[in-house]
Amino acid sequence: MTRLKIKDILKDGKAGSEVVAKGWVRTKRGSKNVNFIALNDGSTINNLQIVVDVESFDETLLRDINTGAAISVKGELVESAGSGQKIELNAKELVLLGGADPDKYPIQPKKHSLEFLRENAHLRFRTNTFSAVFRIRHAMAFAIHKYFNEKGFNYLHTPIITASDAEGAGQMFRVSTLDPKNPPLTEDGQIDFSQDFFGKATNLTVSGQLEGELGALALGEIYTFGPTFRAENSNTTRHLAEFWMIEPEMAFYDLKDNMDLAEDFLKSCIKYALENCMEDLKFLAERLKQEEKGKPEDQRSMDLIEKLEFVLNNDFIRITYTEAIDILRNSKPFKKKKFQFPVDWGTDLQSEHERYLVEKHFKCPVILTDYPKDIKAFYMKQNNDGKTVGAMDVLFPGIGEIIGGSQREENLEKLETRMKEMDIPAEEMDWYLDTRRFGSVEHSGFGLGFERFILFVTGMGNIRDVIAFPRTPKNAEF
Ligand code: 4AD
Ligand code: MG
Repeated sequence: MTRLKIKDILKDGKAGSEVVAKGWVRTKRGSKNVNFIALNDGSTINNLQIVVDVESFDETLLRDINTGAAISVKGELVESAGSGQKIELNAKELVLLGGADPDKYPIQPKKHSLEFLRENAHLRFRTNTFSAVFRIRHAMAFAIHKYFNEKGFNYLHTPIITASDAEGAGQMFRVSTLDPKNPPLTEDGQIDFSQDFFGKATNLTVSGQLEGELGALALGEIYTFGPTFRAENSNTTRHLAEFWMIEPEMAFYDLKDNMDLAEDFLKSCIKYALENCMEDLKFLAERLKQEEKGKPEDQRSMDLIEKLEFVLNNDFIRITYTEAIDILRNSKPFKKKKFQFPVDWGTDLQSEHERYLVEKHFKCPVILTDYPKDIKAFYMKQNNDGKTVGAMDVLFPGIGEIIGGSQREENLEKLETRMKEMDIPAEEMDWYLDTRRFGSVEHSGFGLGFERFILFVTGMGNIRDVIAFPRTPKNAEF
């Protein structure tokens, strides 16, 4: 008899039919005569209740069926008397596939803190919270590919090892085969990268954008979706050293087209989550409520599902950086000196400012445009005022910046001048500048931080809890 997934048993199982289920024991309780096992196989947040007539089974076998153990159950489905599920499985045959010593297994049938589970990251998939998060993460990856596929975008695989610093921010992880203790040196005492594997210095990519532009200026519309690496020493709940980024790049798009796409894209993924992940979302919404029970009412967050529906059903606010600075300088926290970082035209916005705009002022996602050129990357389209560039950041409640993007400077001369001003060596970027030399067109793109988006959709508070194997400063376990 083939195994059925618990998700399908709970959905379609008919009382009276025989099935085989396999999974991991979440809990076991009961009396002298009858045991109830909550069995989960990862296909759904819901457990299948297994009813065990104690007398019909070997005593030691039942003793070894503890939380964490893997078992196989063959039995008959019966209507459930208890509330919560409509069907349960009366065990006829039980096999212990893999035991879990209750004195040693760290995931006990009680509520563990997220910190504890982070320390046991190799086992945290087995909790309701993390299995829900990773099922939603999967669904969102699928929704993203579906969205771009239906729009006729081509999925372009940009390199992970690269010689360029796309963002010019110098936050790269070096990739090298040279002996770190004794690297070959040039005559003037520098590391001689000509002897390195690629014959030059290389790094892990900080963004696939520049390569993406090459694709877009031939294929029309492309997107990347891959791992991205930044050696920024930011130990926050929003930063990872290794994260996943989705970067669409489109020929013939101006900044407005870019904003329209970003808004439609985010809403479409949120809609997909609401249509396909409701059980997991409900579980996480309830979890959040329990978590915030002790807080005063005005500090509790909006219900997770209501929040997703709100973002889906409301237009994002679109304002310029300059307008945002005005709002911030007229705000209560600014006047009461509650902001930690300065708010002056020309300074970069910090997450406290972004979150004030989104959560307190507009109470809605915001797209900020036209940032000062000096705080943005060299490739952004220069505005006529000579001071700002056609940048756009999308800010989300609870997160701050979730998307960064821009219209690109398509004029060769302007781009070269800006690169010179910013000390970006043009001779190493010849391949990039060729896009502006040959058939240059208006084009735009953006990057969505996948984990920041998953934080938003799941309502989780720490970016380490939405990626399976987080990489942060001083932390690269297994
Ligand atoms: O704003 P960023 O740096 O933009 C770029 O890299 C552009 N090349 C994108 C483009 O136009 N194609 O990064 C884009 C997004 C951010 O808005 C944020 O969501 C995410 O990537 N991000 C990070 N997420 C987690 N950890 C980090 N250290 C991140 N750095 C950026
Ligand atoms: Mg950014």
